[in-house]
Amino acid sequence: MKLVAPSILAANFNNLEEDIKMINESGADFVHCDVMDGVFVPNISFGIPVIQAVNAIAVKPLDVHLMIVHPEKYIEDYFQAGASIITVHYEACTHLHRVVQQIKNLGIRASVCLNPHTPVSLLDDIISDLDMVLLMSVNPGFGGQKFIENTCRKALALKEMILKRNLSVLIEVDGGVNLEVGKKLFDSGVDVLVAGSFIFGSENPSETITKLKQL
Ligand code: DX5
Ligand code: ZN
Repeated sequence: MKLVAPSILAANFNNLEEDIKMINESGADFVHCDVMDGVFVPNISFGIPVIQAVNAIAVKPLDVHLMIVHPEKYIEDYFQAGASIITVHYEACTHLHRVVQQIKNLGIRASVCLNPHTPVSLLDDIISDLDMVLLMSVNPGFGGQKFIENTCRKALALKEMILKRNLSVLIEVDGGVNLEVGKKLFDSGVDVLVAGSFIFGSENPSETITKLKQL
């Protein structure tokens, strides 16, 4: 599958409505929303009220990436705010299986994210419960960073794990994605490209989304 999820972390917060409407009318598949708490990652972005506001305008599913400690405390709130997919970090969940079930019991898609140093083999006993795996291709916390090349190797290993088990888990990659990187990722079995600065920093964001989808 070749899907694209623009990350609104790079959108214009002075006029978020305009950027969400651009996404609505574009070929984008999800709206990627980066929630940062200043504890799990060294940056603070936005939380529940902003997701609610985005949800009031967005027509595409909200793909909510929780870069926070104790995500289990807020799953219900992000669901109520409009999340269709909730991603929690492997590194932030002591009881990952419980958190995944918590998300699935709400009837939405559950996804687990791995930081660049976390091996995909650690998903062996949870992969069959997941709808998506998010591979970080930068250290989470900031947009506009350089893509870490090792992510392609991780995507290939994860794809093999998914195919061997005959599962239909999506692979999403987040960080430093542009056309060159996007091509390599799709060739490595990735299904969903997240892109922030590459889309919103381009002259024609909607056209950039189409170019990524057509890779
Ligand atoms: C980073 C975030 C990303 C970020 C990607 O912690 O999870 O979603 O917005 O930004 P770019 O595409 O600019 O690397
Ligand atoms: Zn993200």
